[in-house]
Amino acid sequence: MSILDEYVRQNPGSKEAYEQAQRFLPSGNTRTVLYWPPFPLCLRAGRGTRLWDVDGNERIDFNFNNTTLILGHNHPKVIEAAEEQLARGTVLGAPTETEPLLAEELLRRLKGAERVRFTPSGTEANMQAIRTARAYTGRDLIAKCEGAYHGSWDAIDISVAPPLDQAGPREAPNSVRQQAGIPEGVLRNTLTLPFNDAEAAVALIEKHRDELAAVIVEPVQRDLPPEPGFLEALREATERHGIVLIFDEVIAFRVGYHGAQGRLGVTPDITTLGKVIGGGFPVGAYASTEEFMEPLAIPEAKFPDYRGPRLGFSGTFNAHPVTMAAGLAVLKELRPPVYDKMDRNGEKMRQGLTKILDEAGINAFVGGMASFFPVIWTTEKVRDYRSAATGDRTISRYFSVDLMNRGVFLLGHPNICAVTTNEDISFTLDRIRKSVETLAPIIEDEAPHLIE
Ligand SMILES: Cc1ncc(COP(=O)(O)O)c(C=O)c1O
Repeated sequence: MSILDEYVRQNPGSKEAYEQAQRFLPSGNTRTVLYWPPFPLCLRAGRGTRLWDVDGNERIDFNFNNTTLILGHNHPKVIEAAEEQLARGTVLGAPTETEPLLAEELLRRLKGAERVRFTPSGTEANMQAIRTARAYTGRDLIAKCEGAYHGSWDAIDISVAPPLDQAGPREAPNSVRQQAGIPEGVLRNTLTLPFNDAEAAVALIEKHRDELAAVIVEPVQRDLPPEPGFLEALREATERHGIVLIFDEVIAFRVGYHGAQGRLGVTPDITTLGKVIGGGFPVGAYASTEEFMEPLAIPEAKFPDYRGPRLGFSGTFNAHPVTMAAGLAVLKELRPPVYDKMDRNGEKMRQGLTKILDEAGINAFVGGMASFFPVIWTTEKVRDYRSAATGDRTISRYFSVDLMNRGVFLLGHPNICAVTTNEDISFTLDRIRKSVETLAPIIEDEAPHLIE
């Protein structure tokens, strides 16, 4: 039976749910990435590293809501903290005691940062960080890296996955709309830099040095590590020209106790956060120095004589009390040894995968760092968007679906979490070995260049 036939056989409830949902939701759900052919799973519950779908199938999770659940599903301490807050109320309409506690916990980890603001999502954290940089510098242009995702907002939803025939030269990429509806004026205000090419990126920064408000970069581009010197070069060039350097650590913060910046030794002006810091509830945050955050943020009632630029900030669900409580519970658990364990387990997955592919004579790229272990079906060394784009997507999709058939939920940017066990890893590597055997004839047909 083919991989897809087996998937359809195992998941009749998910198929039915998808067909019904399409009557009410465009393409059946509200997150574009959560569609895969022939239909996505409809999930019902999660606990620890396990997920259950509406058909009762159990799978080991290596997605964790796209890297969010660093302590796994329904961690007892997180649930307890959220329930305690729920019993006291959902949203209360004035500051709560938990908000500064979570802020303090974040600032303990981010070198040089002195103030935090919370948003309901990573997208909004990046919006506010960019607005802060624009207000601070009085300039409009921002730069982002090709292939980086910073959220669903016009100014940054650009050149995330541009078609290669529109992407322009590698060392000076075109800025390409990721979605329709992004105005031309917005497009003109976003410059695209090549990731992991320090010389070319700095040349572009130099060229636009008098117009640039900010350079925003994922210090680890989802699961793609920076090459030595790349972040340092961005730091040096932005500092030289008074351009604000924003590190989007919405995902990357999970790579170390002091975030990616602590692990990689480069400190930005503003850091944006999300995902893990909300304990599974909607969250975002941005953090910076008093110099950046305070003068622009002061309420008129507090400093009536201040005449400089103001940057007020509203949001009905900013610093949601349940999120603050759950996020605080997560950070309290995330002590340095937990990161060491995640590093070790991430390495076990990378080594295990490499061995399986080598033994099968398949030439694919296993990358990542810390808790990440992506497999890209290409013979190239993946170091940026363009090399990643050489990956064979059909094989990638078959691999994910076949693993779902075998009890493993591994898609997007595969990652282990703090409660992933050795048994989970051995089980999964065994299933991956079987899956690679099943895929071999498909690879021979669809992507023969991958066979050594
Ligand atoms: C690096 C990065 N930045 C920002 C975002 C946007 O965060 P959110 O989905 O919470 O708006 C994401 C989401 O996946 C992300 O991966």
